[in-house]
Amino acid sequence: MKEEANNIFTIYDEILQQSDKEELLKQRAQCIWMTGLSGSGKTTIAKVLERELHAKGFLTQLLDGDNVRHGLNNNLSFSDADRRENIRRIAEVNKLFNHCGIITINCFVSPTLAIRQMAREIVGDDRFVEVFVDTPLEICEKRDVKGLYKKARRGEIKDFTGIDAPFEAPEAPHVQLKTANKSPQQSAKELLEYIIPKIKIS
Ligand code: ADX
Repeated sequence: MKEEANNIFTIYDEILQQSDKEELLKQRAQCIWMTGLSGSGKTTIAKVLERELHAKGFLTQLLDGDNVRHGLNNNLSFSDADRRENIRRIAEVNKLFNHCGIITINCFVSPTLAIRQMAREIVGDDRFVEVFVDTPLEICEKRDVKGLYKKARRGEIKDFTGIDAPFEAPEAPHVQLKTANKSPQQSAKELLEYIIPKIKIS
């Protein structure tokens, strides 16, 4: 920790607690963490999931790589160190939202076991639901919605995940969505069924 941290006095125990917010919202906060290659369908599934949860009366916040890198993290590249910093800040943002009782839905490549482990530690093990959006590289590349794989293959983008930067699949995700022969609606439904008992307060 930096030297300046010595002069910081936190007030965590003086403010309203997570349980106060959860009681108000009648829900339990969770961090739904979707990991997968670019173009695997994380954001598409997340958008459907968020609408379903909203319709059922849950308060959510969707956090997406492209959006966050446009604002909060617009000073970060795709180097290993910057990807780590990207995920560290996002995990801290998750912690704030969760403290406010809000269910977060995250769509970040978050390519390594270590990066996701860090996120889990920041958010807290009991709040963290790891979802592997398991779409083979060939399919992501064939879709190439943003045209980035083409650019990466031409060498116009360096360190592109799955091409010349690694993606380590989760070893034991809570949910594994094999999207190849499924609609985003089906994947979102699968995920919803897993999530509901975790966020519902009886
Ligand atoms: S992460 O690796 O740091 O977790 P993040 O989810 O924030 O990545 O951003 C990934 C998105 O940025 C991709 O969906 C893609 O649109 C874009 N992108 C641009 N350059 C790269 C790259 N080198 N590797 C992966 N994604 C990239």
